[in-house]
Amino acid sequence: MRIAVYPGSFDPVTNGHLDIIIRAADKFDKLVVAVLRNSAKQPTFTVEERMDMLRRVTAAYPQVEIDTFDGLLVDYLHHKQAGIIVKGLRAMSDFEYEFQMALMNKKLAPDIETLFMVTSDKYSFLSSSIVRELASYNGSLEGLVPELLEDEIRRKIYHP
Ligand code: PNS
Repeated sequence: MRIAVYPGSFDPVTNGHLDIIIRAADKFDKLVVAVLRNSAKQPTFTVEERMDMLRRVTAAYPQVEIDTFDGLLVDYLHHKQAGIIVKGLRAMSDFEYEFQMALMNKKLAPDIETLFMVTSDKYSFLSSSIVRELASYNGSLEGLVPELLEDEIRRKIYHP
């Protein structure tokens, strides 16, 4: 069975993430979307909230599993018997950091490949931090996050 892992903070999930999830899910027997538990970043949404949102927006895709991980990503892949890390690339600005990560992961675990998928151009400007910024000013999240999460995300972040 071909298992891939799409790791991230997903704080919160955006339509850019969902686009990668749907396109990647089609290419593997199983795609595990893995939410990083202990990040240096102070998250807005708890891990449980982020996983719950991911579960709801991927409910129609049986090959997608939502999970959480801690520690080194490559150790988690071995634990899941997965061979591929899926990453989305938006722009050249993502590349330097992602390239460094991919090389480090390759050094740590030569058996694991990183697969970069290019984000759809309509989402190339999108990020969780931009969504949080917009929501903090009560801006519309239409088209930026999955429709069923628009109000929920705005309510959590906007405090007039
Ligand atoms: O959505 P993000 O915050 O860009 O995701 C970053 C993530 C979770 C992919 C990255 O921080 C990660 O893999 N962290 C786990 C620790 C690790 O294995 N780091 C790489 C080798 S030092």
